[in-house]
Amino acid sequence: MASNLLVLLVLVAFSAFLKADGQLSPEYYRGTCPKALSIVEAEVRAAINKETRIGASLLRLHFHDCFVNGCDASVLLDDTGSFVGEKTAMPNNNSLRGFNVVDDIKAKLEKACPGVVSCADILALAARDSTVYLGGPSWKVGLGRRDSVTANRTAANTFLPPPTSNLSALVSSFSVQGLSFKDMVALSGAHTIGRARCTSFRARIYNERSIDSCFAESLQCNCPVSGNDNNLAPLDVQTSTHFDIQYFKNLLNKKGLLHSDQELYNGTSADSLVKKYSTDTTVFFKDFARAMVKMGKIKPLTGKKGEVRINCRKVN
Ligand code: HEM
Ligand SMILES: *[C@@H]1O[C@H](CO)[C@@H](O)[C@H](O)[C@H]1NC(C)=O
Ligand SMILES: *[C@@H]1O[C@H](CO)[C@@H](O)[C@H](O)[C@H]1NC(C)=O
Ligand SMILES: *[C@@H]1O[C@H](CO)[C@@H](O)[C@H](O)[C@H]1NC(C)=O
Ligand SMILES: *[C@@H]1O[C@H](CO)[C@@H](O)[C@H](O)[C@H]1NC(C)=O
Repeated sequence: MASNLLVLLVLVAFSAFLKADGQLSPEYYRGTCPKALSIVEAEVRAAINKETRIGASLLRLHFHDCFVNGCDASVLLDDTGSFVGEKTAMPNNNSLRGFNVVDDIKAKLEKACPGVVSCADILALAARDSTVYLGGPSWKVGLGRRDSVTANRTAANTFLPPPTSNLSALVSSFSVQGLSFKDMVALSGAHTIGRARCTSFRARIYNERSIDSCFAESLQCNCPVSGNDNNLAPLDVQTSTHFDIQYFKNLLNKKGLLHSDQELYNGTSADSLVKKYSTDTTVFFKDFARAMVKMGKIKPLTGKKGEVRINCRKVN
């Protein structure tokens, strides 16, 4: 009995030490909001049942959060008098989606455990749950991130790679975040789901030689030389609602939608890894899951830093 108590005390002290040390833990809400994970999962599932694409949008939100001053939900903040938010940054404006789903999840969590679950953790969980529900791999999500009290549009424009990026630009924008070449190629596999606007791939389908000509032609009707900037095309022409290795198979056939996608298979050192992923679901899933965990650990606010926002769109 007494020794059980001692073990418990040691465990509590140890976990407090971990938190103070800035670590995330999958068990973070076990005591304070045991239903947190099932609430997020149920909401994500419902949202995807309503609109399949939203799973892709939620996965992308976490990426766009983490690459801009860390995974701190800064991407969710609306503009205020004291800062311009990230929502209107170039890669985000008229493009990022899923804010209402995050609001719905947050409302449910506030009802169950007020003031406990951060918006940054919601994004990390929703990204994982979306991936799983669309057929991809699963992973344990480290939790305990807190939310920023500010946002920075310039930083979003600086740190999020544009679709015109060449391979070396892609490598460096990931390495700035502590992510490797392999992480970059694996994470790009997220483009096995979701859609892009005409404005993101127009230059490629009219000007480039590294694109299958029938594929390019098939896209031109819905994405004219000028106008219709917001018309959509699937990032994975074959199965854009299934998380699979088809994205990599497409690259082998010069059917990457974005310039940055095809840069991964264009006669360079990246080719062999793309080839590997295009034939081996197990390896891709393993590398993707590992890279997502790594991405989720970018500069989290922990301990007393930041806050747990009550409304994900504004600071408390
Ligand atoms: C490698 C560098 C990357 C570039 C240059 C890039 C660029 C883009 C662009 C331009 C779009 C289309 C946006 C639009 O036209 O509205 C897009 C969509 C998307 N991206 Fe990326 N991305 C990259 C990496 C990632 C990563 C690491 C993830 C997640 C792990 C991701 C997930 C997605 C998803 C799921 C969509 C579809 C979203 C939807 O349908 O709402 N991307 N990306
Ligand atoms: C964002 O998009 C809106 C609507 O198209 C546009 O009016 C606005 O100028 C854009 N903002 C920025 C900063 O580009
Ligand atoms: C916003 O981000 C830019 C680019 O990283 C940086 O130069 C600038 O100092 C940041 N602004 C604030 C107020 O932190
Ligand atoms: C890649 O893009 C960067 C940034 O746009 C540019 O400075 C560089 O010259 C390009 N590298 C190659 C090999 O084209
Ligand atoms: C592929 O390589 C060619 C020739 O080096 C280059 O012109 C092109 O920009 C590269 N990338 C893509 C996506 O076509």
